[in-house]
Amino acid sequence: MTTAARLMHLGAFLMETGHHVAAWRHPDVQADAGTDFRAYAALASMAERACFDAIFVADSVAANVDDSATRAARSDRLDPLTLLPALAAVTARIGLIATATTTYNEPYHLARKFASLDHISGGRAGWNLVTSDNAAEARNFGRTEHVGHAERYARAREFHRVVTGLWDSWADDSFVRDKASGAYYDAATLRVLNHDGPHFSVAGPLNVPRPVQGWPVVVQAGASDAGRDLAAQTADVVFTAHARLDSAQAFYRDMKARAVAAGRAPGDLKIMPGLSVVVARTDDEARERFDALQALVDPVAGVAMLARMLGNFDLSGYPLDGPLPELPLTDSGQRSRQALLTALAGDERLTIRELVLRIAAGRGHVTVVGSATTVADLMQTWFESDAADGFNVMPAELPAGLDAFCSLVVPELQRRGLFRTAYTGRTLREHLGLQRPVRA
Ligand SMILES: Cc1cc2nc3c(=O)[nH]c(=O)nc-3n(C[C@H](O)[C@H](O)[C@H](O)COP(=O)(O)O)c2cc1C
Repeated sequence: MTTAARLMHLGAFLMETGHHVAAWRHPDVQADAGTDFRAYAALASMAERACFDAIFVADSVAANVDDSATRAARSDRLDPLTLLPALAAVTARIGLIATATTTYNEPYHLARKFASLDHISGGRAGWNLVTSDNAAEARNFGRTEHVGHAERYARAREFHRVVTGLWDSWADDSFVRDKASGAYYDAATLRVLNHDGPHFSVAGPLNVPRPVQGWPVVVQAGASDAGRDLAAQTADVVFTAHARLDSAQAFYRDMKARAVAAGRAPGDLKIMPGLSVVVARTDDEARERFDALQALVDPVAGVAMLARMLGNFDLSGYPLDGPLPELPLTDSGQRSRQALLTALAGDERLTIRELVLRIAAGRGHVTVVGSATTVADLMQTWFESDAADGFNVMPAELPAGLDAFCSLVVPELQRRGLFRTAYTGRTLREHLGLQRPVRA
């Protein structure tokens, strides 16, 4: 008996005009695409034709309006939980993963919205459960200061328990809607949550039937110790940032071990690093496209992006051509990203300006610039050496970058037997090879 080949999973991480910080300034790019539904619809259809597992949409609940605001893109974006139900209506198979924060939402709201998205899309919903790395969000929710790191994770853990409990309010067959007898639902199958914990008090039940997938797919992206533990216990997919193969391998090993320690099988948790990519027909052509984007980087916008990624550290007093200063451990931002960027600058002795250019396309995720062969080689190496179960693909500029990936890299991966040539499942769980949760 032959076993089916292991296939990689692909997410299309759609970031407004593209992931490169200067993409919006490129002549081929529609500068307002990040708030244009039709642009998103075209991208989602493109990714679906290429058989991607899912599209992935990041979020924050605050606009970037710091000193560099007039020079930085990404001050405006659409709400993912409004965008993705609309995209569900113009697609049929691709998964739809929306980011939503546990720090500045209530669990009943999110349980209901994701259950609704799962029904609207026929089982294609995914939730990127984050703890908010943007301190500016606090001021939009009645606080003067961001919630601290440990507290954010304690809240996230309880949030997940409440949301999944609400999704299990009803059995799959609770709503009998029997016209003859007049019974609308079977009360014996109803489970009222009655949760009372340190952060939330939620009675339930949810006023949406059990989601098509049982539970929508849960994605997480924290990589601090607290983030890894939470993901190992509760996530289906981990989205993660690595600049190098060895750090991706160490992360992969660690996460699979933590999943096993939490009583799960290693395959229950899919590890998908981000892949920042510029692809063209030849290596030289790809390099030219990349160089054209790099030439558009505005140092003010670039340094502001770097400062945010370091945990809102004020870099304005430091010379652009000097080294990165010593940084205090961030309590408001992403600890894992701060560590990644500090290590990158230290290992390669980068100045602030050089570090900005290094992360302009991928914000610290591995960046590959080249032909389909070059890109597929890197993906195959990571996939086959226990660094990745798939990738969240981050095109530098949109739509051309996704188009080039779909027309050049996807066929190359398919030729190598590494990626599907047609969807075999209907739901996002089926695409990812994940079990449907049984209601306990
Ligand atoms: C690859 C990646 C993508 C993320 N996307 C978002 C996002 O869209 N919105 C958000 O608020 N946080 C986002 N985060 C933040 C995390 O999910 C996490 O909750 C927070 O950074 C704390 O991370 P830590 O555990 O590494 O300290 C992202 C993190 C990573 C690594």
